[in-house]
Order: sequence, then C-alpha cells, then structure tokens
Amino acid sequence: MKEMVLVTGGAGYIGTHTTVELVNAGYDVVIVDNLSNAEMAAVEGVRKITGVDVPFEKVDCCDKDALNKIFEKYKFNSIIHFAASKAVGESVLKPLLYYRNNITSLLNVLTLMKEHGVRNIVFSSSCTVYGQPKKLPVTEQTPRQPATSPYGNTKQICEDILRDTVSAYPEIFGIALRYFNPIGAHPSALIGELPKGVPGNLVPFITQTAAGLRDHLSIFGNDYDTPDGTAIRDYIDVVDLAKAHVVAVGRMINGKSLKNYEFFNIGTGNGVSVMELVNAFQKVNGVKVPYEIVGRRAGDIEKIWADTSYANKELGWKAERSLEDTLASAWAWEKKLRGIK
Ligand code: UFG
Repeated sequence: MKEMVLVTGGAGYIGTHTTVELVNAGYDVVIVDNLSNAEMAAVEGVRKITGVDVPFEKVDCCDKDALNKIFEKYKFNSIIHFAASKAVGESVLKPLLYYRNNITSLLNVLTLMKEHGVRNIVFSSSCTVYGQPKKLPVTEQTPRQPATSPYGNTKQICEDILRDTVSAYPEIFGIALRYFNPIGAHPSALIGELPKGVPGNLVPFITQTAAGLRDHLSIFGNDYDTPDGTAIRDYIDVVDLAKAHVVAVGRMINGKSLKNYEFFNIGTGNGVSVMELVNAFQKVNGVKVPYEIVGRRAGDIEKIWADTSYANKELGWKAERSLEDTLASAWAWEKKLRGIK
C-alpha cells in the first residue's frame, strides 16, 4: 500500500511544489487548503505537472470538525503542515488573526493525529526563529531569540507545541524545517509564487518590476555592515526546499529519526546581498530592474545565512539548483503569468 500524506496549505507556494515532489516520489497526497491566500489554478498546475488527479479538499484547518471529516475519509500516515498566515507586516497589524490561525490549526492537526493514529508530521518553521544571530552562519544549536513579530512568535510557539506534544505522545514523530528565503518556481512554469496585491518579498517584487507592473524596486537600506551595504539572506530554491520535505517524511516513515522531535536548517549555506541578487537577476535574464535605494525597512535583520552541514549529513539532502537557474525560473513564471514572450 502506498503511504498517504496530507498536505495542509497544499495550494500555496511551498505546498504546491512539495506536493509535486511527493507525487514524483510515489506518495499519495491529499491537499487541504481554505484558499484564503491561494488559487485553485495552483492545484490544477500540480495536477498537470504530475499527471495525477491529486485530491483537493477545501477546508480550513481551524475548523476541527471539518478537518476531522478529512481524517475520517482518508487514511493518512504523515502530514506536512503548511497552512498558516505568513506576512510579517500584516501580523503586526493583526496579531490576533495570526495567533488564532497559526496556533489553532496546528493544535487541531496534532489533536486529530492523536485521535486517528497518524504518526508523522513535518512543520514549516522559519529562520526567523534565530532573529539577528551574533555568529554566522547559524547552526541548529544557535539559540532562538525573542521574536520581533507575531508571525515569528507563532513559528516559535508552534515549534514548542510540537516538541512538547511528541514528548508526551511518543508514538508521534515531528520534524520542523527552518526555511531560509524560498524563491523561484517549478521549471515547468506551471506553478510558482502568487502574491496578492503588492509583493512584500524581494523576488516577486523584482519579477513584477521587470514585467513592468511596478516602476521600480525599492532597496531597503545600503548602510548595513555588509560588503556592499545591502542586507544578506540565504535564498533557497523552492524545488530544493520541496525535496527536503519528501526526505523528512521518508526519514520518519523509515524510522531514521534520532529523536521524536528534530529540526533542521533548510538553506543553501550561501549569503547573498540584495544588490547581488538584483544584479544576478538582471544578468541571467537579460532584463532591467530599475531600483532606488531607500531607508531600511523596520524589523529587518542585517544578515543571516545557514550552516546546512547538519541537514546535509543527517537528511542526506542538499540544495542543488544554482541561484542563476532559480532566478531564471522566477522570471519564466512571471512572464507566463503576464503573457510576456
Ligand atoms: N527587500 C528590498 N525591497 C523589497 C523587498 C525586500 O530591499 O521590495 C529586501 C529586504 O529588506 C530584505 C531582503 O530584501 O533585506 C529579503 O526580504 P524578503 O521580504 O524577501 O524576506 P525576509 O528575509 O524579510 O523575510 C523572509 C520571509 C519571512 C521570514 C523571514 C525570516 O518572507 O516569512 O524571511 O527571516 F519570517
């Protein structure tokens, strides 16, 4: 019998790419999403890429009764829990929404896992839990720091809920993946990032500027303590990131976990500045991205990148796609969306 995986938030950016990789790896997948920040077209994209009519259930994970019906309908072995609100700025304005959505959905998922005997869960965490680390790159041993936004706080709280739950119910295994900055799109350009309104993140803003939807990119600060003065991040290709989830699920199914609760840094190990990223995008795609340097964005950290050696060794996973290929895929996706030749 094939293993069946529930992917909550499976119509979203990382959820769709992960579903494709799970199906490619031979898993049966069921997508649950409330479509609050995703489109059905993304699910259609997944079906087209895989050639599989992946089941979709429009359910809000905060609705425990509705989610229970999904657990009754299918027999899951594992869950990848993406469903969450994810905009840092919005979380400052709407903290109650973020705490309610992100925490309630995880509590419901864990409660139903216990009630239905589902063993494995991957939780989507973030490098935001490290804040601005004193020492770079960050390892999994780098201490977490108090969160600077309600969004970041929900990631820390959810990690703790997962840790405490698997400790009390040792039949459950959990892995938190701490993502660095996911970018890019599937090479087919059938799925990619679909931000609503003005993009808050760098790469969607760059692609929309190159496509002429925005007249210029604002680069937030060039007075940081970095070689070119712009902030540094670790940009991880979304397909590489998706594959890390497949490995994490397989690790738990095959009894390879060292402990009931584990967490890993999922990045490339390379720090790239905003300016370097903009230049690489222009070069690889042969397009101009007009930009202006403006003041720092409130709440931004100066620099962070991952030490990925633990994930590389323990998971046997490594980011493979080059930054150039990833930036080309981001542009191919934007062009397809906008009908640009
Ligand atoms: N940036 C610009 N101009 C823009 C947008 C971003 O210069 O229009 C800069 C930011 O100041 C930052 C870098 O590009 O230096 C990356 O910004 P993003 O908004 O793309 O990503 P962040 O690193 O701020 O945030 C990401 C995720 C969050 C997560 C955080 C953890 O989006 O979910 O990493 O550090 F919490």
